[in-house]
Amino acid sequence: MTRLLSSLLVCLTASALAFSANSADLKIPACPSTTSFTYNTGIPAKDPTCPLTKVTICYTPTQLHLDFEAYNETNFYFDSKQKTNDGIWAYEVVEAFISKGSDDPQTYFEYEVNPNNVTYNAIVYNPSRVRATGTPFEHAYITDPFGDGFAVNTVLDKKKSVWKSTNVIPLGLFNGENPKGSTWRMNFFRTVTSPKKYPDQQLCGWKNTHEANFHITSAFGKVKFV
Ligand SMILES: *[C@@H]1O[C@H](CO)[C@@H](O)[C@H](O)[C@H]1NC(C)=O
Ligand SMILES: *[C@@H]1O[C@H](CO)[C@@H](O)[C@H](O)[C@H]1NC(C)=O
Repeated sequence: MTRLLSSLLVCLTASALAFSANSADLKIPACPSTTSFTYNTGIPAKDPTCPLTKVTICYTPTQLHLDFEAYNETNFYFDSKQKTNDGIWAYEVVEAFISKGSDDPQTYFEYEVNPNNVTYNAIVYNPSRVRATGTPFEHAYITDPFGDGFAVNTVLDKKKSVWKSTNVIPLGLFNGENPKGSTWRMNFFRTVTSPKKYPDQQLCGWKNTHEANFHITSAFGKVKFV
């Protein structure tokens, strides 16, 4: 009786933690199929001037293919001195926060790319899940992303006010190869600034964190690889 009850409980807990494809905010197909979605939500508050960003995404057995199209860009603002893993987030970037599993993560990957084709690649340790003041908040950098199987290519079209970045992220980074059927959590962002506005930034994203802080992991969307 007790055993039956406890295995029932284990079952219920497991199904409560995982989520079905139906309740996922995003279903990622195997390449060459892709899925696309756009975002222009103001963070933390409603902002009808947030520029539109389109993400196109799919997976292979070993890689996540993640393309950003940043529309309505007027500034293409970056610091040309900045290299891999420098603070490119202070200027204009598009970003993906990625975690394997269903829970609100405490550890996740922060990926960013700027209009100068420079990337930021860090594993974030955020045990408070909200970057609470006075609690640990660490970044462990991936120091050789291109040696590790990452890829990036970024092109600007100033006439059309758009920049596009094609990215490959190795799934082994998450113990996530052959991801079909697995559940993940992700959020996507974009920062906007200009030489005039810097260091102020307009923050836009997919799932609103409701604070001028991207590191609130309960906000991450539910993602299923299908
Ligand atoms: C934003 O970009 C889209 C796609 O290019 C375009 O259709 C739309 O008119 C633009 N919006 C503004 C406010 O410029
Ligand atoms: C972007 O950077 C990557 C990695 O260094 C390189 O392979 C690619 O050719 C670059 N693309 C552009 C357009 O500069």
